[in-house]
Amino acid sequence: MIDNSIIDSLKNQIKEIDNKQDFQNLKANYLGKKGKIKDLMKEISKIEPEKRKEYGQEVNKIKNQVEEIFEQKMQEIQQIEKQEKEKKNWIDVTIPGAIKNRGKEHMIEKTARELIDIFTNHGFKQVEGPEVEKPWYNFDALNTPEWHPAREMQDTFYMDSDIGTLLRTHTSPVQVRTMLQEKPPLAIISPGRVFRKDEMDATHLSVFNQLEALYIDKNVSVAHLKYYLESFTRDFFGNNVDILLRPSYFPFTEPSFEVDLTCIACGGKGCNVCGNTGWIEVLGAGLVNPNVIRSVGLDPEEWQGFALGAGIERFAMLKYNINDIREFIKNDIRFID
Ligand code: PHE
Repeated sequence: MIDNSIIDSLKNQIKEIDNKQDFQNLKANYLGKKGKIKDLMKEISKIEPEKRKEYGQEVNKIKNQVEEIFEQKMQEIQQIEKQEKEKKNWIDVTIPGAIKNRGKEHMIEKTARELIDIFTNHGFKQVEGPEVEKPWYNFDALNTPEWHPAREMQDTFYMDSDIGTLLRTHTSPVQVRTMLQEKPPLAIISPGRVFRKDEMDATHLSVFNQLEALYIDKNVSVAHLKYYLESFTRDFFGNNVDILLRPSYFPFTEPSFEVDLTCIACGGKGCNVCGNTGWIEVLGAGLVNPNVIRSVGLDPEEWQGFALGAGIERFAMLKYNINDIREFIKNDIRFID
């Protein structure tokens, strides 16, 4: 009853379609409220009543065919869109990635490592001690009894009310721990964090780092100390530096020295860094006090030694020309970038 031209013309028209918009328009043309299929359905009133059923079935068949054609086309369009999207979003995984700066060792770390390397090259062994310490190791065994005025100078943070534990004020307690654990002769270094009740300023932090060195043997004299001081400071700063020993006082060494170094900034001529003296103070040192040797159960007639304690920040400041110690803890990214 109905010819097939509607299907044929749809097939022709749909071939040209390549986007959803045109597709929807065409679909409305056929299947919409005012579309061709609706028109065919309306025709039913003009059909003789006994043929209407057959006519209706035929229209339905055509409608199903039309729907199927559109369904197929929709899938085609979606497939094409998907391919285009993939093309657009294609990533070349072989392109080298953006280069990220991985950062570098902080100056304090670098300085500590260099100093450690220098001493270990001379045969010193690196040992560690606890940051939370007993007063006996930090003071008493180092010839600094309870009543000693030097104890006041380094008074610190106590961890509990019965003052049974404290944050160590220097790395020197590692001297005591090592001598109690190992038999002399000994040559050790111990880098690490120390704590003081100091106000912070351009040259002081309440938490900073020291490097302790201890050498115990027979017949040790200031000559040995002087040799090591000179050779390790030259290894670190270069051969143009000299050392100057000035008499000083530490309870745990006798004699004791403040060790000065040729001013790095002016080469010894005198400048504002060294207060025009040509020398800068860099560390404390001395021969181990016989009382300390005794406190670890050794005989000071048999064993002598030297000890030194250097501020790692101080060495870093001199080498890298940092004029305020607080720079190290300001989180300035340039220190690690
Ligand atoms: N422990 C001393 C200080 O922190 C430094 C020092 C170490 C001095 C070893 C002499 C010998 O000031």
